Amino acid sequence: MLEPETTRFWGWRTLSRGDDEIEKRFKEQASGTTNVAWAIHLEEEHVGFTGIFDIDWVARDGESGIFIGRSDLYGRGIASEAIRLRTAFAWDELRIRRVHNWIVMRNRGSRRANEKAGYRQMGRLREAYFRTGQWHDEWLGEILLDPSPGLPRKD
Ligand SMILES: CC(C)(COP(=O)(O)OP(=O)(O)OC[C@H]1O[C@@H](n2cnc3c(N)ncnc32)[C@H](O)[C@@H]1OP(=O)(O)O)[C@@H](O)C(=O)NCCC(=O)NCCS
Repeated sequence: MLEPETTRFWGWRTLSRGDDEIEKRFKEQASGTTNVAWAIHLEEEHVGFTGIFDIDWVARDGESGIFIGRSDLYGRGIASEAIRLRTAFAWDELRIRRVHNWIVMRNRGSRRANEKAGYRQMGRLREAYFRTGQWHDEWLGEILLDPSPGLPRKD
């Protein structure tokens, strides 16, 4: 999370990355009841994480995120597979109805990995994110997972 390659379109570059802070955030997240998060492993190595955050258990909506910390692994399909599995779990195990996500428009890898799992654009926030000297638009994507009985949802 300290490398320019991994944070090009992700996170806050002013956030503290000290061991104590990281442990505190990890414990808060692990004990929270509105997050479900997974580690992403490539064979024996922990290379990233994904999750559904800020889950509203009444509206049955949550926001997803994904991070792979080794930029030399980008483009090999790891995120596509993780997002596919995460999305299936959201419906099959959690009965979440909608997963949404905010993605910097220029972050093609993240957008494509989500689109391949069925996420579609529902909005675009212009000049929402400032990084490396310029404003970026953000893509708001969603997937609706609540089929009518016996029918796959098509819209
Ligand atoms: C975004 C991220 C999760 C993508 O992970 P990944 O494992 O490289 O994604 P995949 O290999 O599954 O690729 C998905 C698609 O995007 C394309 N892609 C991946 N990286 C790309 C890049 N830098 N530029 C253009 N296309 C890219 C792939 O070719 C693939 O498309 P295709 O199947 O149509 O060929 C990863 O780059 C990452 O963790 N980045 C840093 C953190 C981040 O930006 N997280 C997302 C915040 S919304």
